[in-house]
Amino acid sequence: IEATRKYRPTLHFAPKQNWMNDPNGLVYFEGEYHLFFQHNPHDTVHGPMYWGHAVSKDLIQWEELDIALHPDELGTMFSGSAVIDWHNTSGFFPEKPGIVAIFTHHLDRGAGKHAKESQSLAYSHDNGRTWTKYEGNPVLEHDTKIDFRDPKVMWHHETNTWVMVVASEQTISFYTSANLIDWQFESEFGDGIGAHDGVWECTDLFELDVINQDESKWVLIVSVGGNHSLDVGTRTQYYIGTFDGTTFTADPESIDWLDHGRDSYAGVSFSDIPEADGRRIYMAWMTNSKYAQIVPTEGWRGQMNLPRELSLRKHGNIYRLYQQPVRELDTYFTRKYDIHAEVVNQSSEKSYQIDAAPVDINLTIENKDASQYGIQVYHTDEQWTRIVYEAETNRLVLDRANTGNVGFSEYFLQQQAISLEEAKQLKLQIIVDASSIEVFVNDGAYALSSLVYPDQPCKRIEVFAADGSIEIVEGHISTFVKQ
Ligand code: FRU
Repeated sequence: IEATRKYRPTLHFAPKQNWMNDPNGLVYFEGEYHLFFQHNPHDTVHGPMYWGHAVSKDLIQWEELDIALHPDELGTMFSGSAVIDWHNTSGFFPEKPGIVAIFTHHLDRGAGKHAKESQSLAYSHDNGRTWTKYEGNPVLEHDTKIDFRDPKVMWHHETNTWVMVVASEQTISFYTSANLIDWQFESEFGDGIGAHDGVWECTDLFELDVINQDESKWVLIVSVGGNHSLDVGTRTQYYIGTFDGTTFTADPESIDWLDHGRDSYAGVSFSDIPEADGRRIYMAWMTNSKYAQIVPTEGWRGQMNLPRELSLRKHGNIYRLYQQPVRELDTYFTRKYDIHAEVVNQSSEKSYQIDAAPVDINLTIENKDASQYGIQVYHTDEQWTRIVYEAETNRLVLDRANTGNVGFSEYFLQQQAISLEEAKQLKLQIIVDASSIEVFVNDGAYALSSLVYPDQPCKRIEVFAADGSIEIVEGHISTFVKQ
């Protein structure tokens, strides 16, 4: 079937046609961000996996290129990462540096048999346009683990070594290599710590400075697969701790969900962002295993979350991962409403006409004495998303039961919530695109991503309060401008 425009995002990457899942091989090289992705070019559901490919100069506008990696006799192309081999450690780049992809070969072996998963390499001399598979593939197998996939490779400066983290059933395995080809097992992390609701998938490891401290910490990201008995489906958790080149040790107090909404999974960060930039930029697949294959788009299915800049802060003795949409996004918006000291109560909700999309809503709200308050995004007069802060429970709840096309899955009707610390003020950023809402709380201390399928992106926005009043201390609402 032909891909239709309906629900197609403006600011979020979606494939031109057919199925997409995880972001793969996120890497920056010679002025381009590369986004490879799990792709079935034959259908709008998961199937034999290829690596699709898109490039961008600013992380927002993507140009989809030809498929990068095709299945071969060792299997289909499951998730993985990419690095620049600056010093030709692999021997693939005698002339000039280029990109190496480290991916999982997934080989189905027929009914009643487990698929075989192993790690393999491919390299490109022309900025990811064409690829050669390494003749010695696979480069890493496991004797016992059945689920053994999604390698993420990084260069570890202190030890001058490549480090691979790879999901191995319900743990993360750590390997090292001098040349990307020969891998040495170092350690395994995860037994008895964090969520084990499902198989562990897509992982990532990186170091970040702690913004309000004179130290740095390591972040380990783990996607936790869906479990049939759990309504929440697929989620991503993070661990913060130390890493010495071979072993990761988690601070047991600093474990949390990365996104408190249903729709953010299999996320990983870009490799090789220049030091002068210095950002750690993360991208995830914006959906959930509970309904990823049945969301109501036609001819295409799957989109990414907005790319987010990650940072760390310490509160008491807990480290927390912060995330904010990348600053490049700002150039796509212009201010429509500036708001100052606006009081809202039961009988005086404020309404802002929008009739455009995407929309970027930024509000700092102080609660005087309301029992609840919030923002209602009217997609049309009859279809809305409600984002409510409940004072009694200190929760921010997103309700999408009335957003339009919701009947394809019972799980889509359930509320999503963030439990917050008690506070009089709340700073909210809400980005509304054609079929998604992403909420960032208190400068990125919490995120909540949610798909929605309304007939129109956004007609107007209402700020309301119940049983008392609130003040919009300051804020602005901005709408999309084409670049
Ligand atoms: C996560 C995942 C990965 C795997 C890929 C297959 O969504 O299951 O573990 O490599 O998707 O498409």
